[in-house]
Amino acid sequence: MSTPSSNSDIDRKYTEIEQKLATDSILAARFRRNLESGAPLIDFERFKVETFMRHILDVGSTGSGKTNDSFHLAKRAFEQGLSVLIVDPKAEYRSLASEYGDKLLVLGVAKDPPLLFNPLQPAPQVTEEVWISIFADVFTRSYGLSEPSRRIIQDSLEKLYSEGTLDNRKIIPTPRELEEEVSKFPAGSPRELNSRRSLENRLHIINTGIIGDTINTPRGYTSENWKGRITVLELDRIGSLRDQRFLVEMVIASLWENRRHAADSETTKWLVVLEEAHRFVSEERPPASRGDRTLIELAIAEARRYGIGFLILDQLPLLLSSYVRENCGTVLLHRLSSRETAEQMCKLADVRQPATSSYYGGYTPESLLTLPEGIAILKPYIGNYEDVTRTTYYSDLRTSVTKIPRYQTAQTSPSHISTVNHLERNLLSTSELG
Ligand SMILES: Nc1ncnc2c1ncn2[C@@H]1O[C@H](COP(=O)(O)OP(=O)(O)OP(=O)(O)O)[C@@H](O)[C@H]1O
Ligand SMILES: [Mg+2]
Repeated sequence: MSTPSSNSDIDRKYTEIEQKLATDSILAARFRRNLESGAPLIDFERFKVETFMRHILDVGSTGSGKTNDSFHLAKRAFEQGLSVLIVDPKAEYRSLASEYGDKLLVLGVAKDPPLLFNPLQPAPQVTEEVWISIFADVFTRSYGLSEPSRRIIQDSLEKLYSEGTLDNRKIIPTPRELEEEVSKFPAGSPRELNSRRSLENRLHIINTGIIGDTINTPRGYTSENWKGRITVLELDRIGSLRDQRFLVEMVIASLWENRRHAADSETTKWLVVLEEAHRFVSEERPPASRGDRTLIELAIAEARRYGIGFLILDQLPLLLSSYVRENCGTVLLHRLSSRETAEQMCKLADVRQPATSSYYGGYTPESLLTLPEGIAILKPYIGNYEDVTRTTYYSDLRTSVTKIPRYQTAQTSPSHISTVNHLERNLLSTSELG
């Protein structure tokens, strides 16, 4: 085969394939048969580091098989050398402990072992100045606070960071200290006074609430502690979606900013798994911030450059930020319960209607409403030109129906989790000394 050299060669190749498929009744029949007698098994070997770095969207209604996929994908990513961070709002991932032992770290809010994460601790390699602005941004957005609040946070934090040394060692302020500092802020106008009060109020609610102990730790975990592992953050005890979102956004900010500012020698790649993703990256936003991108959206749009891939799982993909939906190279569609969602998702995954082509065996958005567990529609990430030319299987190139095996985990005994617990307590006390 001659080596094609330009985009027009690639286009021509695609056209050839398209024409072939449109007229190839045998192929069309094969697709139809796939549907009737069991689709081909998904080939997880095809998920390379590059595939993860182009992000994966996995949607379906409740009980349709998303978390099952996620187990396979997390495993595959980890085998490929990625560190894996799982945001687990429903506590579905601890059964992986039976398989991964102390490579798996399960941390929970208001659980044992506890997630300790100080959102005021700058990510490793990141300056206080940068971190102050990130915290102020995420905090005010998460809790719908007004502009003066941001300035009050910034002023108070600048003060706290500059005062905080003991025996020449930097003391990192906690949110409780921030609350106290904010209460001393000299308000110059009634508006500022109002802002200060609502800010104080909000900080107080958080500090005394369910995430209070998680965030009020001088030095908590950072991505440094999570490298080379699968880390699961269980958030099922957090009732408030705002608190969930604030915490998750700060954790991802910490990972993302660290990677952005780390030296080029930092080569660790990450897979971040976001369950119930619309809670963290929703299309919905207040009128004042329409058009702004949140930090997670930015991270998803640019993360590939910094070695972070996202696996986005959701039951309600229409609520997901369009930045996220449009930026996923691989799409997996499970059973959906609304026709509208099914139609939108078929468009996104390029599932063709029978009117324009028959090569999906008449697979339509309607079929998505009745897909059984273990069957999904896959739009694979198509890599560079090399990948395309080397591929011999047409179904590899375009959206196809695929069968996903059930992931088997053994029962997780409490001792699986507690070994990790002990190990990490040590790790944490060392880092506190350091
Ligand atoms: N590939 C599969 N083969 C066979 N059964 C499966 C498969 N995937 C999932 N199931 C079955 O469906 C059930 C639900 O799967 P899973 O937990 O992955 O769904 P989900 O989409 O994550 O649901 P939810 O949105 O409620 O979290 C599983 O307990 C399992 O019994
Ligand atoms: Mg699930």
